[in-house]
Amino acid sequence: MFAARQTFNLFQKRAFSASASQASKVAVLGAAGGIGQPLSLLLKLNPRVSELALYDIRGGPGVAADLSHINTNSTVTGYSPDAAGLRECLKDSEIILIPAGVPRKPGMTRDDLFNTNASIVRDLAKAAAEAAPKAHVLVIANPVNSTVPIVSEVYKAKGVYDPKRLFGVTTLDVVRASRFISQVQKTDPAGEKVPVVGGHSGVTIVPLLSQSNHASIAGETRDALVNRIQFGGDEVVKAKDGAGSATLSMAMAGARFAESLLRAAQGEKGVIEPTFDQGIDFFASRVELGPNGVETIHPVGQVNEYEQKLLDACLVDLKKNIQKGVDFVKANP
Ligand code: NAI
Repeated sequence: MFAARQTFNLFQKRAFSASASQASKVAVLGAAGGIGQPLSLLLKLNPRVSELALYDIRGGPGVAADLSHINTNSTVTGYSPDAAGLRECLKDSEIILIPAGVPRKPGMTRDDLFNTNASIVRDLAKAAAEAAPKAHVLVIANPVNSTVPIVSEVYKAKGVYDPKRLFGVTTLDVVRASRFISQVQKTDPAGEKVPVVGGHSGVTIVPLLSQSNHASIAGETRDALVNRIQFGGDEVVKAKDGAGSATLSMAMAGARFAESLLRAAQGEKGVIEPTFDQGIDFFASRVELGPNGVETIHPVGQVNEYEQKLLDACLVDLKKNIQKGVDFVKANP
């Protein structure tokens, strides 16, 4: 009880400390889903967000009505599930998060979602390119390795593509990596930073343990840890037993990424997040954010022989996933 009250007070305090000059409209597309709802809740608690715009093909206004009773300063609006509602939702947005799309069931890979999610993401990207071409777009819908290239192709076709403003959200891989390494090493995960590069599925996820606080991890311990980071999502899919994939941890990761972008937009320096980025050919790495999105893409840095093998395997799959996204938009504009 006491802890809950403290948390509440903290949010109150932060909400009042946000100034009007920090006004930011954030849109969530797929807001009534497993990720969309907790993600919207976390954004409602973020004092940097002044206006929260929620869209879903079903249930957006209900989620918005519920969240709008939370006593933080931001406004929350749920839009009607049609083209006009989507347009209004997107208009003037600074950040657009896209968790719309079906999640995995046990036994599925992220690529198995392609057929359904590719057209959902393409259509939402078209609307975003028209209504808010300057917004930062954060793609959560899987397979991220392919859905990010889909968005970029749509934006290119509309003549509004800015690689600095398009992001694939791979933050959850880094969140998992710091948690899992802390469990092995018995440390505080808050102090653990493990760079994870490449893509966001299976072997395309490449943790660089040699650049963490625990470079000496080797042998079976290392192999098990790398495997858990690469396939951590499967643990959740299996445990949910047909009811979907990671939603709560993903919401936290998505909210963290949005918060980093807002901090950078509001003038903070040195804000670094991992993201699946356009700069070096759709390869996730550590990216420094600024007011216009990507400021600096940090190099992968020194890797050991083991990690080089992981990178080689990653690139084989990643290239195929990227091409699949590009080809989809070419064949289905
Ligand atoms: P969900 O099925 O619970 O929610 C998806 C929501 O999208 C539903 O409310 C649905 O009505 C909505 N939707 C479907 N088509 C839409 C459209 N055209 N416009 C607007 N809304 C639409 O799924 P969940 O668990 O929220 O997952 C969403 C996506 O996120 C999945 O593709 C999943 O694979 C992905 N994901 C990504 C992660 C990452 O690390 N990037 C981690 C976990 C999941």
